[in-house]
Amino acid sequence: MLLDNHGRKINYLRLAVTDRCNLRCFYCMPEEGLNWLSRKELMTYEEMLLLCTVLVQMGIEKIRITGGEPFVRKDIMQLLTALSALDGLKELTITTNGVLTAPYVKELKSIGVKSVNLSLDTLDSNRFFSITGRDEFANVMATMDELLKNNMEVKINAVVMDGKNTQDIIPLVELTKELPLSVRFIEEMPFNGDGHVYNGLKWDYVRILEEIQNHYPQIEKLTDPLYSTSYNYQVKGHKGSIGIIAAYSRTFCGTCNRIRVTPVGELKTCLYDSGILNVKDLIREGRNEEHLRNIMINTFNNRAKDGWEAERLRPANNNVHESMATIGG
Ligand code: GTP
Ligand code: 5AD
Ligand code: SF4
Repeated sequence: MLLDNHGRKINYLRLAVTDRCNLRCFYCMPEEGLNWLSRKELMTYEEMLLLCTVLVQMGIEKIRITGGEPFVRKDIMQLLTALSALDGLKELTITTNGVLTAPYVKELKSIGVKSVNLSLDTLDSNRFFSITGRDEFANVMATMDELLKNNMEVKINAVVMDGKNTQDIIPLVELTKELPLSVRFIEEMPFNGDGHVYNGLKWDYVRILEEIQNHYPQIEKLTDPLYSTSYNYQVKGHKGSIGIIAAYSRTFCGTCNRIRVTPVGELKTCLYDSGILNVKDLIREGRNEEHLRNIMINTFNNRAKDGWEAERLRPANNNVHESMATIGG
């Protein structure tokens, strides 16, 4: 079992495969996009597979592929298929914006992917355009339908943004009436790649919950799964459930079980740290697996106790404004 210096189990890797995205969600990146990484800077699939093999041997049981948007990276199914065959890996999953995903759902299912998290902040196509800068609402909804048709576990991720989509909170809860999915409302974080000024959190998890409770006084608290990032609830009689992720308030750090690897191979032991160790460089220097293992164990033994400490430990000129697409969410 892999433990950190605070006795927390580490068994979940979030692997971001690209910084590129086919949407321009304003809370994530500016309209002109980012200074995209070159091919050479990105980890190759071979490097990712090697790293994941080592990490699974060390105790990682669940891998989530993120981005940017995973499906804009060429031949992503190749990587997913190779990862799905890793001995000891219990769960392979993916977070996607759903624009290109629908045609892949059956193949995902066939390699053993059982759940997909879908980013969708609104059920209104005009607001979708104003938030994402792209006219892709219909494709995302098609992905949602296809996932449900194939009995995939679906979690909708909706970032709650003051003045942008708070009118969507209730319609999104309403979606759970007939559909067996989970809608999770996420506090907006400052990782926006300088897409806009982050004016502080207006909708924290308490306010989001109050908004929902005002409309549905009959919501019930569910038991949260171990290591859950969300506080989970259900409106009585609804088929699906709802969740609230205090991503900015960082209330769940005490049970944080996850590490991250960015598209350039930076190992992060917290979403809010600035990257601790570049594992791609080590692999390219020809370091062997034992070296990788030892150096990563050392990193896990020096892990910040929570997201607040991780943020404090960042170098003074390095605040949390990189785009989420370069971290992997
Ligand atoms: P499950 O594995 O299904 O529980 O999903 P997840 O919450 O781990 O992953 P997902 O990619 O769906 O992320 C949903 C939101 O939670 C995103 O906005 C993430 O940035 C945020 N999030 C995920 N993990 C962490 C974390 O460790 N810390 C913080 N602060 N936010 C996180
Ligand atoms: N704040 C909160 N969540 C964000 N995501 C991307 N950028 C932000 C942000 N600034 C979410 C996406 C996706 C998940 C991986 O991270 O909506 O669902
Ligand atoms: Fe873990 Fe950092 Fe997220 Fe807290 S903020 S749950 S420590 S990654």
